[in-house]
Amino acid sequence: MNIKRVALLTSGGDCQSLNATMRGVAKTLYHANPKIEILGILDGYKGLIYGNYRKMESRDFSGILTLGGTILGTSRQPFKKMRTPDENGLDKVKAMKENYKKWKLDCLVILGGNGTHKTANLLREEGCNVVTLPKTIDNDIWGTDITFGFQSAVNIATNAIDCIHTTAASHSRVFIVEVMGHKVGWLTLYAGISGGADIILLPEIPYDIDAIVKALKRREEEGKNFSILAVAEGAISKEDAKLSKSELKKKWKESLYPSISYQIGNEIQERMGTEVRITVPGHTQRGGEPCPYDRVLSSRLGAAAGQLILKEKFGYMVGVQNNEVVPVPLEEVAGKLKMVNPEDSIIQEAKALGISFGDK
Ligand code: F6P
Repeated sequence: MNIKRVALLTSGGDCQSLNATMRGVAKTLYHANPKIEILGILDGYKGLIYGNYRKMESRDFSGILTLGGTILGTSRQPFKKMRTPDENGLDKVKAMKENYKKWKLDCLVILGGNGTHKTANLLREEGCNVVTLPKTIDNDIWGTDITFGFQSAVNIATNAIDCIHTTAASHSRVFIVEVMGHKVGWLTLYAGISGGADIILLPEIPYDIDAIVKALKRREEEGKNFSILAVAEGAISKEDAKLSKSELKKKWKESLYPSISYQIGNEIQERMGTEVRITVPGHTQRGGEPCPYDRVLSSRLGAAAGQLILKEKFGYMVGVQNNEVVPVPLEEVAGKLKMVNPEDSIIQEAKALGISFGDK
């Protein structure tokens, strides 16, 4: 086969370096063969299901290295609903395969996170040629040491903690910065360490409120007039960690707190009488331009994906392992999460610095 037509698709939550990565793929393909046609599928898998795409030109990929978001649009199409027909009875998987054939694609390049990778693997199993790229600010994709978007988000979350530091030092207060990450705490861990947080709470290390209070009191005894907690969206107490998924869901539905940080803040206030202030940078963590690290990473990954396609090596995610860009078989990636291991050396080093994880 001679590669003639390739389609690009961005799926799931956006992040800063999606455009930079697509640019890397497109530049590599056009550089090898200016006649290659590239289609841009609109709004993630939705576009592939319902047949929405636009024909891209080389100039569409110019000037987007520094542009956040995705020029193609994106959407969340949960993997678990892919086999369920839509409201009009449409078989989504069949529709995606038909469009793949109708558009005479030689390869589908999919940029996305964990859910996206499960669907990408399904399309591979269904006979489509697929190459994927690991996107997410959460850095939780198995098979790659790092995902693009992560470093840019670390910069933003760190900046939020830095800004809190200056105001915190002027008041005797406890501050909580809630960092994105429902299931995995890499972003909170990195932003917490780089922002100098005193307490870091991660989904992977359930906390005990007494341990948090103990750490805060110790700081008071040391003469520190403020404390900063970096709390992941998915931080969980030791008691709640024992609940089933549905029990936890019910608990949050009935909760008075908009998120875990408010609950922790209230508990600290009640136990210590200290003022607590909460900051939630939220989606700003996914916004703005990619940082230089991500631009380089995306360019490398994009180039490697382009080269795989030209060699007609399909069914891989392009990842980074030990600073080398490597193809990782999709069936190994799909369905796995790369979580923080409480035994990881970075956790031990942070503890050695005196950072509390609220566990003891
Ligand atoms: O997966 C990326 C992410 O930003 C998570 O960190 C966050 O928990 C989630 O997406 C938010 O999703 P949404 O944009 O759909 O609210």
